[in-house]
Amino acid sequence: MSEVIWGLATSHVPSIGAAMDREKTADPVWAPLFEGYRPAREWLAGHTPDVAILVYNDHANGVDLDVVPTFALGTAESYRVADEGFGRRPVPDVTGDPELSFHLLQSLMDEGFDLTVFQELDVDHGFTVPLSVWTPDPGEAWPCPVIPIMVNVIRYPQPTAARCYALGQALGRAIASYDGVRTVGILGTGGMSHQLAGARAGFINSSFDHMFLEQIARDPAKLAALTREQYIREAGSEGIELIMWLVMRGALNAQVRTVHTAYHVPASNTAAGLALFDNRPG
Ligand code: DHB
Ligand code: FE
Repeated sequence: MSEVIWGLATSHVPSIGAAMDREKTADPVWAPLFEGYRPAREWLAGHTPDVAILVYNDHANGVDLDVVPTFALGTAESYRVADEGFGRRPVPDVTGDPELSFHLLQSLMDEGFDLTVFQELDVDHGFTVPLSVWTPDPGEAWPCPVIPIMVNVIRYPQPTAARCYALGQALGRAIASYDGVRTVGILGTGGMSHQLAGARAGFINSSFDHMFLEQIARDPAKLAALTREQYIREAGSEGIELIMWLVMRGALNAQVRTVHTAYHVPASNTAAGLALFDNRPG
């Protein structure tokens, strides 16, 4: 029996990774964002799990736009950092956990989630920036093996928020039924409000974001009831990435303790949010 000990939600803006890689985190434009991360990073450094599961979306870097799966899972021994056109980020490749991946795959299939399987996958900023938010100085390796779960948020029709939340709940049961590891951390990534192109480029909706940050802890079912069109209207065409936070939240208990939240506008074109939940009972 394995236990999810924490859930971390964070935006994945590429320039957050670039600011770290280029040692600009103390620059006046970046310092407030990274200051906001500090309490979460300190807590996480004292709570390293045996394995992590990271729910993210690829941005046509690891997977061709013609074959975007709705939900997918990685089963590889390791995942390479993608070259997104300007060289690979100077961060470690990711060690996987194939045995746990296969257990999750089978459990989720048995619950009706017919996942696409990646035996090979390069992971882009959607994956590596959240790892850097969690662990700013990984050295030679990230703190533990990490398994990718990929969600389509880039091609219409994206899965519903309700389906993402249900996937998370099934994921929580799959983890609980595994006796190979003891402790698990789950990351839900992307968001918050942003739109990168079109007539509403630069769109930010702070009141929606603050509502989301509050309800993700207390009443995630309310967020799961919103349609994809509501996400796009309220949070922007890329703000629908927030449905991935619901996969993470679904895998946690009904009651969680909020360790820390942060919100900063803008990081590049995005409202950068973070929420860290302690999932241990009591
Ligand atoms: C930005 C945000 C994203 O979520 C992304 O995938 C790429 C860029 C941005 O704000 O620049
Ligand atoms: Fe994105």
